[in-house]
Formats: sequence, structure tokens, C-alpha cells
Amino acid sequence: MRNSVLIPLTALLILAGCTSDFIQGDQLDITLQNVIKTTSPDRSLDHYILAHSSDLTALPQDPNNPLTTAKVELGSFLFFETGLGTVPRSEVGFQSYSCSSCHVPAADFKPGRMQGIGEGGQGFGYVGEARVKHSAYEEADMDVQGIRPLTVLNVGYSAENTLWNGSFGSKGANEGTEDAWGVFDEATDLNYLGFQGLETQNIEGLRVHRQMMTPELAESLGYIEYFDRAFPNVPVEERYTNQSVSLALSAYLRTLTTTEAPFQKWLKGDMSAMTTQEKRGALVFFDKGNCSSCHSGSAFSATKFFALGVNDLDQSVSFREDEETLKKNKGRGGFTGREEDMFKFKVPTLYNLQGTQFYFHGSSKRSLEEVVEYFDKGLPENDRVPEELIAREFKPLGLTEQEKIDLVAFLRFGLQDNDVIRFKPASLPSNNCFPNADPQSMEELGCN
Ligand code: HEC
Ligand code: HEC
Repeated sequence: MRNSVLIPLTALLILAGCTSDFIQGDQLDITLQNVIKTTSPDRSLDHYILAHSSDLTALPQDPNNPLTTAKVELGSFLFFETGLGTVPRSEVGFQSYSCSSCHVPAADFKPGRMQGIGEGGQGFGYVGEARVKHSAYEEADMDVQGIRPLTVLNVGYSAENTLWNGSFGSKGANEGTEDAWGVFDEATDLNYLGFQGLETQNIEGLRVHRQMMTPELAESLGYIEYFDRAFPNVPVEERYTNQSVSLALSAYLRTLTTTEAPFQKWLKGDMSAMTTQEKRGALVFFDKGNCSSCHSGSAFSATKFFALGVNDLDQSVSFREDEETLKKNKGRGGFTGREEDMFKFKVPTLYNLQGTQFYFHGSSKRSLEEVVEYFDKGLPENDRVPEELIAREFKPLGLTEQEKIDLVAFLRFGLQDNDVIRFKPASLPSNNCFPNADPQSMEELGCN
């Protein structure tokens, strides 16, 4: 619809004898719009426009967990609530960690470091970068995962099946995998509840991250009225439970959309939102780079699984090689047990890549330049991954130096919403310190 406005404008500018630079700018916009339309399932730019966090009817949601303002509000507190940490491995950690220990808003909802630390960590720094093992903890008792945390930004757009291996959720890619539910990973039994991945995963997430809601806790932390508003139709005996917490957390997470990114504004018609270089980079992304063949969803994520042969986390850092970690390294195969799924990982969103400098599931790349170089070379680095499993689309691209620089500019700036801190509450009903409440973090966060 933009085209019809822009073409006459271009003609006008030529007549007016404007600089060729400016005309080129308009042509670039039109070319880019046309290329994007050819990749879009409905041949329109709309496919790539993310719903605004306040537009609860337009945001993707689970029919079994319809979005309401009350649920979103409750979830926005609970995600940060250190008071939920009531089942720690060590008393030292009691009520000192939260979901946001590993999903820090200022680090684009990643941990601010290569690996997240929930219970068993101390300190925060500015964006979570200074969180380290707590001196009172054994390594084995810490809440750390053998894989890099995913951001929760835009998670609603790939919520059907969550985690790097997509193991949660009863539908989507998991239809036909029922034989594996509860087999290689006991928790995937929860898929029988029939929720989408996000709603399912967060039930297990609370257990994994040693959190527990009870009526008594809801009362003492000041949440009763919030639960009552969010779940008026859930019987009181079942209202203040981990399942309700999971549904509220999921509702909140579904509203975390990066709608202020320049590319989003450009899609909606603000041609000046992106620089010429970012637009050229976008063209590489959709055209020669073929990036959108896999990063195909509205948030450039997808519940599709590919092996790119990148290194695992235990190849980047020294980390305990327990069964859990080794299973993570197998990707989707660790969930389904199928040979053809081995070493395949979910296509992650590409918005807000600036927050941490750790890329891919094993944090094996430290800059977007390195990532783009990796895709351009098309050469797997991990010899654990058999060649025949590597994605066919992962092959040398032959990008020029300029194209690579442009592509990086699109990823780094065009897809960065610089204000995701707006999703962080100013304070919690409990008045607890967050996202961490160990003594060191409390000092750094100014909670004392
Ligand atoms: C110890 C760090 C840590 C804590 C604490 C933590 N997470 Fe995560 N989170 C991770 C890691 C690591 C992954 C990726 C794990 C995987 O894919 O196997 C992840 C993945 C996710 C995802 C999946 C996103 C996607 O695109 O599939 C969601 C949603 C999520 N976490 C929500 C939460 C919630 C809600 C909590 C609190 C109940 C929480 N996290 C607590 C580390 C953490
Ligand atoms: C074959 C499908 C496929 C193609 C083509 C593809 N990607 Fe990806 N991309 C993935 C998958 C899968 C991952 C996660 C891989 C992993 O960590 O094991 C990923 C990860 C990434 C990451 C890291 C994100 C993060 O959070 O760590 C970036 C950045 C990225 N891709 C950009 C691109 C760009 C740019 C292109 C085009 C040059 C591209 N991708 C082409 C499937 C693909």
C-alpha cells in the first residue's frame, strides 16, 4: 500500500532535480518492500509486524490461557519476585533469586553473561554480568543450565514449542512425538495437560528454578488480590498454585514484543526509521543471505529445528558434564530420541541481539560479525555433529565484505528495541529486592 504513495513521490523528486542519493533511498525502500513481500506467507509486510504489548487481542496466545490485563500484571510481578524462591537447595539461598536472575531486562532478558545463575549465585553488577558462584555453595547445588539461556522477548511468536529443543507443548512440531513424552525427559509428561509450550514449560520452570507458590505465601507477599483478579474462575483451592503462576508468567511473557525496533517502525511506514546501511543489510537478510528461509516467523524465530554444527556450552566453558548437560547438547534429539533430530536446535528470535555478546546455544560466538562470518563460510565447527545432519541451507553464501557489514548493521541496530526496560515493574507488591536478593546483589541494586 506504501508503494502507490512512494512511486509518484520519487518521480516528483526526479523532476525537482533532487540529489541522486535521496532518490536511491526511496528506490531502496521500494525494492526492500518488494523483496520482503516475496518471503512473506501472505505476500504482505504485515506478517513481520509484531503486536503491541498493550494489544491483548492481537498478541499470539494459548486458547487455554486467554490474555487479560490482570494476568499480565500478576505475571509482571512474579517474574521478578525473589519471594517465590522458597525451595532452595541451601538455606543460604532462601528467597534470593527469581526468573529474572537469568532473564535480565537490561540485558535484553538474557543473563548478561554466558551462562545464567539462579540459586547459588551472588552479585548482579549492572546487567547481571557480575553474578558469580556464591561462596557458600558447591557447584553441584547451583541452578545453572548446560545451555545458553534464550531471551524471553517475542517468545509469544514461538510459544507453541519452547526451549532450544522445543520439547514443551502438545501441538505444533510436537504432534506425532507423543511416544517420547515423559520418556527421555520426565517433565515432558506435562504436555498431556494440553497447553502450548510456554504455559507448559513454566510449570516445570518453577520446579527447576526452585520456586513454589502456596496460599500462605500469596498472602504473606501481598498477592491474594492479584490472583483473585487474574483467576476469578479458578476454584479458590486451586488458585494460589504453581499452575496459576505459570499461566500468569506466560501471559506477561507474551506481551514482551520489540515493537520499538527501527525495522518495526519502517514496516509501519516510517521510512526514516532505518539508515540506508541497515536497509541494505535487510536486503541481504531477505535475499542473498537467505536468512529468512529459516528465521521465517514474525519475530524471525520459528518452531523449526536445524543443526548448524556450532559448539556446545561445555566446549566453550569448563562445565560439569552431567547427564542433563549432555542431553542438552543433543538438541531436539535429546527430547525425541530420534537420530534425525540429533544436534538440531530451535530457530531463535533475532530481535535485541545487543544485550549480551554471546551467540548460539553454546555461546560459541562473541560478536555479530563472527556470527555473520560463520553463516557466510557455511563450515560447521563442532565435530560431534555428523555432516549428514547439518542443515542443507547452511552453505557458503559468498557475501562481499560490504554485504557482511550491512547485514551486521541491520541485525545490530535495525532489530534493536532500545527500551525493553519498560517491561520491568518499578516495584513489587512484596517490596522485595529484585531480580536478586542475596546480600551482594542487594547492595549493588541499591536495596539496602
Ligand atoms: C538459572 C537460569 C535461569 C532461570 C533462573 C530461569 N531461566 Fe528461563 N531459561 C534459561 C535457560 C538456560 C533457557 C534455555 C534452556 C533450554 O532451552 O534448554 C531458558 C529458556 C526459557 C524460556 C524459553 C524461551 C523459548 O524461546 O523457548 C522461557 C519462556 C523461560 N526461560 C522462562 C523462564 C521463567 C518463567 C523462569 C522462572 C520460572 C525462568 N525462565 C528462570 C535459564 C533460566
Ligand atoms: C538453516 C536454517 C538457518 C539459516 C539459513 C539461518 N539461520 Fe540463523 N539460526 C538458525 C538456528 C537453528 C540457530 C540456533 C543455532 C544454535 O545455536 O545451535 C540460529 C542462530 C542465529 C543467530 C544467533 C542468535 C542467538 O540468540 O544466539 C543469529 C544472529 C542468526 N542465526 C542470524 C542469521 C543470519 C544473519 C542468517 C543469514 C545469513 C541466518 N541466521 C541464517 C537457523 C538458521
